[in-house]
Amino acid sequence: MTLSPSPRALPRLVVLLSGSGSNLQAILDACASGALSAQVALVVSNRKAAYGLTRAAQAGVPTLYFPLKPYTDAGKSRAQYDADLAAQLAPFQPDLIVLAGWMHVFSPAFLSCFAGKVVNLHPALPGMFPGAHAIARAYDAWRRGEIAHSGCMVHFAVPEVDAGPVIAQRIVPFQPGDTLEAYEARMHTAEHELIVEAIRLALAT
Ligand code: GAR
Repeated sequence: MTLSPSPRALPRLVVLLSGSGSNLQAILDACASGALSAQVALVVSNRKAAYGLTRAAQAGVPTLYFPLKPYTDAGKSRAQYDADLAAQLAPFQPDLIVLAGWMHVFSPAFLSCFAGKVVNLHPALPGMFPGAHAIARAYDAWRRGEIAHSGCMVHFAVPEVDAGPVIAQRIVPFQPGDTLEAYEARMHTAEHELIVEAIRLALAT
């Protein structure tokens, strides 16, 4: 009998989102095609209506809806929410937690449970346009002649908004006559490639 090493289980991803989940879809597609050697073990949303939950269910991935409102209504802290969410995720034994449109800034109560394992996608370059509506704010800056390009990045998450050591980034130039919609579409196409590349890199570190 020939002994061969047992196949290594695929790295486990937990994806957190708040909206459409087009980046989750890019991750699911890359996992399904083998372009990414990983599996999505769980998808979490803090918004019930997030279409990303539907995408996950369609792919047969378990989902968790975990809203902040019951915590704020009960006068509980963000840190308590973060700690409870971390406890929900821990049994899934994530190798990497991917914030893909997760509109909530984590405190150390969450991040310290998964040190070096939380990465965030943001549609702007390092140090530029942190927070919400980054694409529209970059577009307005371009229209005012202040910038010639923006871009997107994936970085390790820290308690500051859209900051932390960068894993991968991509410039997305503006083009003459760009509308916000056209630029947004180009940004999302770039993000869908970048997120897969960055997960690959983060899993390899
Ligand atoms: C993406 O553009 C992502 O970069 C952004 O939310 C969008 C989610 O799209 N994240 C942030 O702005 C974080 N500050 P999706 O739901 O279609 O993947």
